[in-house]
Amino acid sequence: MNRKTPIKPELDISLISLPLNKEEIFGNDNNSALEIGFGEGEFIVEIAENNPDWNYLGIEIKYFRYKKAVRLCIEHNVRNVKLLHFDADMAVEQVFKPNIFDRVYINFPDPWPKDRHKKHRIINNTFLDNLYKLMNTDGILEFTSDHLDYVTHTTEHFENHKKFSNIYGEKGYSGTIKNRPATKFEKEFRDEDRPIYYLAFKK
Ligand SMILES: C[S@@+](CC[C@H](N)C(=O)[O-])C[C@H]1O[C@@H](n2cnc3c(N)ncnc32)[C@H](O)[C@@H]1O
Repeated sequence: MNRKTPIKPELDISLISLPLNKEEIFGNDNNSALEIGFGEGEFIVEIAENNPDWNYLGIEIKYFRYKKAVRLCIEHNVRNVKLLHFDADMAVEQVFKPNIFDRVYINFPDPWPKDRHKKHRIINNTFLDNLYKLMNTDGILEFTSDHLDYVTHTTEHFENHKKFSNIYGEKGYSGTIKNRPATKFEKEFRDEDRPIYYLAFKK
């Protein structure tokens, strides 16, 4: 595509029939990654700039953050990102055809720390079933959090699901990660010297 053509990062699903295949989303068959809860879009824009041969699809439920990310894509002229303003829980069930994504990123999801709120956590059995269908074989899902109880919750859900393998084996996570941009929350937590837990699961 001509670099001067105006870019349109928004994926508007209001008038198209679902579910969508890769060609309908990105207009090509390149390797593709999904980011859930991209916040203001710093991570997805930077990783897309670093990997121009990949496609990136981000989902964010908060409109103000979604709009900020759209502006960031336009400022950076990134042509391999599509952004969807939607509830990721519903999106993974309804919006995409199976076997589309080679990577999934879930960075610092809301931890819902109180016992009575844990049911709101994005990681649950149905969500993992839906993600599993959307991922390609050997696809990797990366989950990052500073919240140890959410890390344990997530590791247990993946163990019970049984179809993914934990890349970090017995320990279950790593305290560091290489070759990846830091998200906004990650930078803040690093500045405060808070431990960060990097999890990764393979289909
Ligand atoms: C704690 S913030 C982390 C933002 C970003 N990933 C980062 O690391 O800087 C969690 C983000 O997930 C979004 N979110 C929460 N539930 C969601 C859902 N069901 N679907 C899509 N986004 C969601 C929130 O609006 C928020 O932007």
